[in-house]
Amino acid sequence: MALPNKPLGELKAVRDPEVEEREVDILIVGGGMAACGAAFEVKKWMGDDQSVLLVDKAALERSGAVAQGLSAINTYIGDNAPEDYVRMVRNDLMGIVREDLIFDLGLHVDDSVHLFEEWGLPIWKKSEEGKTLDGKKGQKMGTLKSGATPVRTGKWQIMINGESYKRIVAEAAKLAIGEENVLERVFIVELLLDANNDNQIAGAVGFSVRENKVFIIKCKSMMVACGGAVNIYQPRSVGEGKGRAWYPVWNSGSTYTLAMRVGAELSMMENRFTPARFKDGYGPVGAWFLLFKAKTLNGLGEAFAGSDAAKAELEKYAPYGTAAITPTCLRNHLMLFEMKEGRGPIMMDTVSALAELGKTMDKKELKHLESEAWEDFLDMTCGQANLWCATDTEPEKKNSEVMPTEPYLLGSHSGCCGLWTSGPDEDWVPDAYKIKADNGKVYNRMTTVNGLFTAGDGVGCSGHKFSSGSHAEGRMTVKQMVRYAKDHADFQPAIAQGNQELVDHVYKPVRTYMDHCEYTTADDVNPNYIKPNGMMYRMMKAGHEYGAGTATFYQTTTKNLEIVMDLLATMREDNEKLAAGDLHELMRAWEIQHRIWTLESHLRHIQYRKETRYPGFYYQADYPGQDDENWFCFVNSKYDPKEQTWDVFKKDYVKIIKD
Ligand code: FAD
Ligand code: ADX
Repeated sequence: MALPNKPLGELKAVRDPEVEEREVDILIVGGGMAACGAAFEVKKWMGDDQSVLLVDKAALERSGAVAQGLSAINTYIGDNAPEDYVRMVRNDLMGIVREDLIFDLGLHVDDSVHLFEEWGLPIWKKSEEGKTLDGKKGQKMGTLKSGATPVRTGKWQIMINGESYKRIVAEAAKLAIGEENVLERVFIVELLLDANNDNQIAGAVGFSVRENKVFIIKCKSMMVACGGAVNIYQPRSVGEGKGRAWYPVWNSGSTYTLAMRVGAELSMMENRFTPARFKDGYGPVGAWFLLFKAKTLNGLGEAFAGSDAAKAELEKYAPYGTAAITPTCLRNHLMLFEMKEGRGPIMMDTVSALAELGKTMDKKELKHLESEAWEDFLDMTCGQANLWCATDTEPEKKNSEVMPTEPYLLGSHSGCCGLWTSGPDEDWVPDAYKIKADNGKVYNRMTTVNGLFTAGDGVGCSGHKFSSGSHAEGRMTVKQMVRYAKDHADFQPAIAQGNQELVDHVYKPVRTYMDHCEYTTADDVNPNYIKPNGMMYRMMKAGHEYGAGTATFYQTTTKNLEIVMDLLATMREDNEKLAAGDLHELMRAWEIQHRIWTLESHLRHIQYRKETRYPGFYYQADYPGQDDENWFCFVNSKYDPKEQTWDVFKKDYVKIIKD
């Protein structure tokens, strides 16, 4: 149940919070697209004697990456073949992906899109004459399920009027799971292993950001779907603009940290997403490239992407670089190449694109096209529309600069880091991709920890799921979770730590603050503690300068990586001294710890992979270019919670879909 908005000001933390214990069969951690898919689906498969709970750090209606709304659904298979979907994802991610997971998703994703439309999401349609119809006009053409034609931008993407996308999806999720089974504004701090069975998930601990209360929740099976990680690197926007990043600012790497701290295996954490975006406002480029057919120009006004120099550069990365669609990282690489050669900045030629489209339109249609250009931002990145206003930019009259952003970690957009999960239990899936649970059975999307599942940004090696794919994957996964809980009906989760120990752990930053805050007149300067904000600057600076941030044009070296690993180790020690005076700050204290763990795993993987697999996303300068002979494989890692040690290792890639 949602708690009311807080009164003005932050809620002061107290030394000893209330404790609430819960026990359920199925626990869903997160409230984004994957979790909403799971919530929508779960009761269809649950027995009457089973129980479920969903816990989100925010409010379901506006939480996660879709909070601001979107203007496109980027994965709709439609008339395409799922095999081609695998080929597209494989090429975009430079060859190394889990084809079983991607193919499986491709078979199911459209069903979620059909549901979104049924729940009221307006999807643009083509008229019989081939004209674009958006909003209510589009709805008159009938539904996609009944055979209406969507407005495709690229081969896989379709346009929507998506400002309220998340509200629509959240409403369906809440209605299906029941409001009484949803806990909002509760931040999960740690997952908890079972006291009696090795490598078995048993629960989670978190706290409310609206009242002084710690939640200790036991479960038989759990999904962790807390999205990806933003603000782990120094953003390009500074000062008051810092609250704006490309990725919505709430996802702090919890998926990866929560799971790795109980020993779940991670995969491809070296992969990151560094999107090219409209500079400073972070406006999306997809609709401009694909729908409006705009080109990017270098500082000399040349359409550099088709130049001989660009072609020669791309050939170095064949077969991906020479494919019909240039992979996302290589599109960045070409921009960076131009900038480093002194031919920056890169401009999106909005003027020519709109003029070209306008040639076949009357005045009214042209006006509508211009408003669509604005709406693309208003639907999902309204800050960019504000910036256009503030800088007197009319896209039909003035071009806008495009720039690669700071790096993000995620597994459902154009990146593929995440957890190593089981594929489906099908004949065509290689054994190496199946994880056997304690009972010898295979549960699709289960991690290497028994009973712990993930979806969306959490599933590694299968990017390009986007919003629709994450929702569908949540639905697929929860069905397996119910099956797991049924197969383990006799399992009584037991948590090793006592309640007091857990409360002491979660509220440690509050106690540190209370013990020492009187010592200073400046609340955030104190020899006995550090505030989360200060720690954030330390972490961002370290990654920015040594871990292939924007400071070095995304380049790092062996020596730089050694330095940043040392800095991160010191930060982890100093995290013991984090201090929080109110509940918001307590959340910040835990978010920064999740971010530091996530960043460390990312850099450990970069350190291990001795090649540059994703030029344009990052460069390991000691190991330029790709080394297929030695590195055409996954890199996995595992943190051992008992020994507190890391292991990083290779895992074989298996090709399933032929070229
Ligand atoms: P999210 O939807 O991000 O959900 C994460 C959830 O976890 C949130 O509810 C959050 O509150 C919760 N959470 C986080 N930490 C905790 C914690 N510690 N405890 C409890 N809860 C926690 N897809 C498209 O199809 N089309 C697009 O145009 C498009 N544009 C995008 C633009 C941007 C800027 C971004 C970032 C993504 C875009 N996507 C788009 C992709 C899509 O948004 C994601 O693929 C999808 O939201 C991932 O789903 P998820 O459930 O994994 O994560
Ligand atoms: S969005 O999620 O914020 O809309 P983005 O604008 O990068 O992301 O991309 C939307 C979709 O268009 C993604 O599927 C992406 O892979 C694709 N895309 C973006 N730019 C291009 C391009 N130049 N060529 C091919 N596909 C592209």
